[in-house]
Amino acid sequence: MARSTVSASSVAALPELLERSGELAALARVMEAVRASGSGALCLIGGEAGVGKTALVRRFCNQQSATRVLWGACDPLFTPQPLGPLMDIASAVGGDLLRLGGSRARPYEVTSALLSELRAGAPAIVVLEDLQWADEATLDVLRLLSGRVESASALVIATYRDDELGRVHPLRFLLGEIPRHESVSRIKLQPLSAAAVAALADGAGVDARELYRRTAGNPFFVTEALASADAEQIPQTVRDAVLARAARLSPDARALLDAVAVVVQHAELWLLEAVSPQQLSALGECLSSGMLARQNGAVAFRHELARRQQVCDSERPRELRRRLAVGAERRSALACRASEAQHRLVVVGRLRVMCQPCCIRQPVRWAGERLQHSPVELQRAVWWDRFVDGEPGELVPECDRSVLAGQHPGTQAFS
Ligand SMILES: Nc1ncnc2c1ncn2[C@@H]1O[C@H](COP(=O)(O)OP(=O)(O)OP(=O)(O)O)[C@@H](O)[C@H]1O
Ligand SMILES: [Mg+2]
Repeated sequence: MARSTVSASSVAALPELLERSGELAALARVMEAVRASGSGALCLIGGEAGVGKTALVRRFCNQQSATRVLWGACDPLFTPQPLGPLMDIASAVGGDLLRLGGSRARPYEVTSALLSELRAGAPAIVVLEDLQWADEATLDVLRLLSGRVESASALVIATYRDDELGRVHPLRFLLGEIPRHESVSRIKLQPLSAAAVAALADGAGVDARELYRRTAGNPFFVTEALASADAEQIPQTVRDAVLARAARLSPDARALLDAVAVVVQHAELWLLEAVSPQQLSALGECLSSGMLARQNGAVAFRHELARRQQVCDSERPRELRRRLAVGAERRSALACRASEAQHRLVVVGRLRVMCQPCCIRQPVRWAGERLQHSPVELQRAVWWDRFVDGEPGELVPECDRSVLAGQHPGTQAFS
């Protein structure tokens, strides 16, 4: 979305949006109520980066083609421009809002000038985009607007990345303080379902299930992967987006991302601690940035594509894998005897990540000997095998794979 105030009529032909009819209908209902009552409303739209917040709002504004749209957006600046989105709107509407003196104006004055402008005209839509990057003055305007929006005939739509709001992010405080009032509604955008991803991939000649696995239904990742010439490669746009998010983090947080990235699927905290306890303290920052998410007591990249890009960008994946494997071995040695086989299998999975065939033979054989009466554990081994990097059979020699397969005919262990 261009970062300027736009009118709905200037929005070009938009791509089809899947699984958003409910949200579009909800917004239309609110707009209809604003028109009928003359009383304004605020709608807060949150969702992870790339989930389709801008696309949804553009589509909605496009549907309301006869309605005036005032559009302002925040930018990802290290020093956010004071009142950035309001200045976008001021330069389009002029009048008192512009005369206030730009970014030096006070939030209270800006709010009142904006409300006067809205009261003077026909029902309008005001869009404030990407508030996760807002300066404090802009957040103050939103706070003031939230309590006074009913006095103007307008629908104010505010969007934000909810996966980038750490525990002390100012927007998080504000969202908690905005009153639960009928003039305020909230929409949480969800990623697309596997069926929607399959619909988008239809005719593109790609494996839709694999695409869903790699993107977790994030529309940005899905559309970029489909648009790229080689669906197997990480598209440049995804690469840039992942690198840009990581670049905003501290060196410790970036190093921790490198460590999590080499552990396929999720990484347990004890495993990361084995790599470097100092970097583990940057975990909160990684979670707040939205790159990682908690998963069953462990952490994982939110998106497989982002994980892969992080591995490509890492300067020392082999060294990290070695340290992870050593940590896993140590943990296994400490495990109680009853669950020893299970822990060994975890180690097997971890070691396979290392690209060191010699390290895996002994644990595989050991686990195989103890799995004779435990098809469940064998299944677990197969599961591990399916989800680690590398070509099947690349890391485990045929003779070792047959150790397990031979004991459990019919099961394709480690292949
Ligand atoms: N429901 C949908 N169906 C199909 N494609 C979609 C859908 N939602 C978004 N897209 C596509 O996904 C891409 C990302 O969408 P969009 O830019 O709106 O995400 P966003 O949430 O605003 O991201 P950001 O947090 O970076 O601002 C766009 O190319 C958009 O056309
Ligand atoms: Mg957006």
